[in-house]
Amino acid sequence: MASAAALLLQLQLLLLLSLSAAQPGFISLDCGGADDYTDGIGIQWTSDAKLVFGGQATNLPVQNQLQKQYSTLRYFPADNSKYCYTMNVRTRTRYLVRASFLYGNFDNSNTGQPFISTLELRQFNGSLYYTDYEAQFFLALSARINFGADGNKSVRYPDDPFDRIWESDSLRRANYLVDVAPGTERITTTKPVFVGTELEPPEKVMQTAVIGQNGSLNYRLDLEGFPGNAWAVSYFAEIEDLAPDETRKFKLVVPGMPLFSKPTVDVEENAQGKYRLYQPGYTNVTLPFVFSFEFKKTNDSSKGPILNAMEIYKHVQITMGSHSKHHV
Ligand SMILES: *[C@@H]1O[C@H](CO)[C@@H](O)[C@H](O)[C@H]1NC(C)=O
Ligand SMILES: *[C@@H]1O[C@H](CO)[C@@H](O)[C@H](O)[C@H]1NC(C)=O
Ligand SMILES: *[C@@H]1O[C@H](CO)[C@@H](O)[C@H](O)[C@H]1NC(C)=O
Ligand SMILES: *[C@@H]1O[C@H](CO)[C@@H](O)[C@H](O)[C@H]1NC(C)=O
Ligand SMILES: *[C@@H]1O[C@H](CO)[C@@H](O)[C@H](O)[C@H]1NC(C)=O
Repeated sequence: MASAAALLLQLQLLLLLSLSAAQPGFISLDCGGADDYTDGIGIQWTSDAKLVFGGQATNLPVQNQLQKQYSTLRYFPADNSKYCYTMNVRTRTRYLVRASFLYGNFDNSNTGQPFISTLELRQFNGSLYYTDYEAQFFLALSARINFGADGNKSVRYPDDPFDRIWESDSLRRANYLVDVAPGTERITTTKPVFVGTELEPPEKVMQTAVIGQNGSLNYRLDLEGFPGNAWAVSYFAEIEDLAPDETRKFKLVVPGMPLFSKPTVDVEENAQGKYRLYQPGYTNVTLPFVFSFEFKKTNDSSKGPILNAMEIYKHVQITMGSHSKHHV
């Protein structure tokens, strides 16, 4: 009797532990993977085998340097059928959906068979990324940049509770964050930054920034999927200890788009204090493929502009999916 009770207690403890270790609202499918496991950052991956009918699981021929979830994939016949994943989601809830495709010569002959490596869902709480257009349009990520980042590594879970991936601005890619203004410097703080605003960005991303010591911050980047209508937001938090008589005021300038410029940003005033976040944005603005922007200090400001992070998404029309002869 006593041992049965002890066993029961142990089982309950195990259940509690496994529940608290899991991330509520996360679904992470390792496509083609054979088993379930937890990765180095604590994400629990599950095999996709029970959630899709059809397709073949396979291992990539070259596996070294690969994270486990990318070392397998599932491929499907290049026929007229439609192969679907079925997952339990909460209705009337916004999700981040991230799919990855690492070809890795899995078929050794480029047969053109469709395949998928991972499929991730992250539930957003509350009104995160709400738009007036969400019945007809979803938001497709084009850029999510952590300015002044410490090194090249992205910031994601567990720093970001929703596992958004914030790319470092020091990552070098063609036509990505070029034409940087002279006098651009990176700054960092270890002090806490208040980020409890509607978009809840990770504090770690807000603890770094770039500042324009010479009065301007300039960038040019290609926006995947554009021209189009964008949802765009910039994140500002004053993370320098300015003297009482110093000010940081600036305006956004977009060449050829005079209407783009909103009123002057005064970070401390807008955020109602230092080490607090202000996140002005546009819910629907038309942007070109080659996007240049500048934050320029106003004449009455003693300091140049600051920029901690930025996100740009494209409004993409929701369609009912492709036609197919058979659903599998
Ligand atoms: C989202 O809300 C659920 C339910 O209120 C909560 O359990 C979960 O921790 C929240 N997630 C984040 C990342 O805030
Ligand atoms: C960042 O990556 C680039 C290549 O994209 C490399 O040249 C650079 O050395 C890396 N910097 C750091 C700090 O790792
Ligand atoms: C800053 O601007 C001044 C005046 O335009 C210029 O002389 C100086 O070289 C600039 N500094 C840097 C670091 O580019
Ligand atoms: C955004 O604005 C454009 C131009 O005014 C309009 O055509 C479009 O329907 C709006 N909404 C979305 C989601 O693009
Ligand atoms: C700064 O002053 C110059 C010259 O008076 C003026 O042309 C310019 O528009 C002013 N810039 C801003 C951002 O107020």
